[in-house]
Amino acid sequence: MKHFLDIHKTDPADLRAMIDSARAMKTARNDRPKGEADDEQPLAGRMVALIFEKPSTRTRVSFDVGVRQMGGQTMVLSGSEMQLGHGETIADTARVLSRYVDLIMIRTFEEATLLEMAEYADVPVINGLTNRTHPCQIMADVMTYEEHRGPIGGKKIVWSGDGNNVCASWIHAAGQFGFDLTFTGPETLDPEPVFVDFARKKGANIVIERDPAKAVQGADAIVTDTWVSMHDPQSARERRHNQLRPYQVNEQLMSLARPDALFMHCLPAHRDDEATSAVMDGPNSVIFDEAENRLHAQKAVLRWCLGV
Ligand code: CP
Ligand code: NVA
Repeated sequence: MKHFLDIHKTDPADLRAMIDSARAMKTARNDRPKGEADDEQPLAGRMVALIFEKPSTRTRVSFDVGVRQMGGQTMVLSGSEMQLGHGETIADTARVLSRYVDLIMIRTFEEATLLEMAEYADVPVINGLTNRTHPCQIMADVMTYEEHRGPIGGKKIVWSGDGNNVCASWIHAAGQFGFDLTFTGPETLDPEPVFVDFARKKGANIVIERDPAKAVQGADAIVTDTWVSMHDPQSARERRHNQLRPYQVNEQLMSLARPDALFMHCLPAHRDDEATSAVMDGPNSVIFDEAENRLHAQKAVLRWCLGV
């Protein structure tokens, strides 16, 4: 069973093949109207369940469109409207859904939910974000970086802000794709040591630097994300804003990186909090390419999971 649960759990050669496949599919779609089927229909006759226990725009639409472009069908399910949200176990839900559908994508809170779904499902399961990681996003982000700047291997990526789920998958990717990553943020919001240890064991240079001005020196890309994630309590909002304000990505911070440093953000953004509009809409920003590439990268992930 080929589940796509995390970047660090997937073979680096497979990750690389998926990025290549995503780029080939993107090229093949050039000039084709949005939503129209691809020439190849590798998912014909397949049904994909998309389960959301948290809000989503990009993940929901890009998976739905991607499956349809490849000839498959989707069913978008909200966790709260399923029996899952009313006491049915994850294991039973996984076994039942496996009798109907060919693949399950789930966005959930606890990583344990994703892992239990994968353990009991007889079909591939894809991680569409948990509190801890967001691997599909980082597949799109590696693809985006490479479209603009060539191979990511050996480059210096700087994460400025909260050491959250998206940061975690970037750190996993540093280990798997062979680039260096500097984290800059307050100590209380550091990424979990287990993520850093994984990447370091794989040979990536992972640096923790409290001073954002020092951190971005020589950066090939500066990446950030919201200061308050969907799983964070709203009561922590003010404290987080106060702690993270020095790590805002603004034109001043960008000016200390390499002149061609990309600005990246998975979106949704809170403009003028974690990044200024001037940076988000500036010449080095690739945020909407990242959003588009969710579609192409996930089509490659779906094909890998299904072996088609
Ligand atoms: N980046 C991302 O996963 O966006 P959504 O929450 O809109 O899916
Ligand atoms: N860190 C954010 C990412 C959203 C795509 C969250 O978990 O809310």
